[in-house]
Amino acid sequence: MKTRTYSPTPANLRRLATALQGGALVAIPTETVYGLAAHALDASACEKIFKAKGRPAHDPLIVHVLDLAHAELLAEFNYTARKLARQFWPGPLTLVLPKKPCVPEIVTAGRDTVALRSPAHPLTRRLLRLAQIPLAAPSANLFGYVSPTSAAHVLDGLAGKIPHILDGGSCRVGVESTILDLTNANRPRILRPGMVTAQELEKFIGTKVAEAATRLRRSKKTGLIAPGMLPQHYSPHTPLIIKDGWTKLPANTAGIFLRKPAGSIVAEAYWLSARGSLAEVARNLYRVLRQADNASHHQIWIETLPADSGGLAAAINDRVRRAAAKR
Ligand code: TXA
Ligand code: MG
Repeated sequence: MKTRTYSPTPANLRRLATALQGGALVAIPTETVYGLAAHALDASACEKIFKAKGRPAHDPLIVHVLDLAHAELLAEFNYTARKLARQFWPGPLTLVLPKKPCVPEIVTAGRDTVALRSPAHPLTRRLLRLAQIPLAAPSANLFGYVSPTSAAHVLDGLAGKIPHILDGGSCRVGVESTILDLTNANRPRILRPGMVTAQELEKFIGTKVAEAATRLRRSKKTGLIAPGMLPQHYSPHTPLIIKDGWTKLPANTAGIFLRKPAGSIVAEAYWLSARGSLAEVARNLYRVLRQADNASHHQIWIETLPADSGGLAAAINDRVRRAAAKR
């Protein structure tokens, strides 16, 4: 299969919307990471996502919609979910809610809940408006590898496996959306930390929000690992090791700093932010991980943020820990 990257001209957007309606896969830009999209109500289109990514069938997909009205066609919204959607959509917040029968089993991996979000990227919003269908889309990378934040990253992993990529530039946020389980509106629970934080959600809804478990949990009933809690994920091929507060790198080792180091810089040093802004660290994390991974070092050292850094720090540390988890 030949993979083509499209610039966002009106004609190309119309063409890609038609391709999606017809059941084809299209990699789409979102504000968080690129997604690999298919018509969410077409089970055989969604099956192609699992095949292209090498994704296990037990890992459910996020469904992308234009707005709350479209989301309500797919899931049972409660008062809190509506309130949150009105406040945080379009944006990097995914809500897990009881699904309606129209959502195919393959999308939810057989669960009775569905994950929904309304993305903020203007091009994907235009596609959603043109196609008038919900789009199931996990991140557009091979399963287990670092998520893509540019069209070139998508091509790196999925060239020859998918027909279309819409180029929407670099992703503004850079880490995946916050996933909030609202199945029980009285007990909201973060399944994956992201740009929208537990504190922000708590302040807005006035209910305690449980934070994501950082350790691996298995369901007592099924023995399966809860989705989004796979211990190893987002990983480069080169062994990645968390080392805080180092000054000298061993031979054949790349070092990823949080901020640009002062003084002379060795060739093996990478950094995530010039000035130490968390937004910038998040935006650059996957690009720099990929860059260091492609430079054939024997290992990569990376720093984590102090636990009390607030804001995006929980999401950044979560992704770094998963990327560094032993295989
Ligand atoms: O920012 C994002 O969320 C990006 C962009 C493309 O929107 N998407 C993304 O999807 O990161 P990804 O590859 O992480 O896959 C979706 C994840 C699943 O692994 C699972 O953790 C969670 O969403 N998920 C989906 N449906 C779920 C459900 N019914 N219950 C619990 N978790 C669910
Ligand atoms: Mg993913």
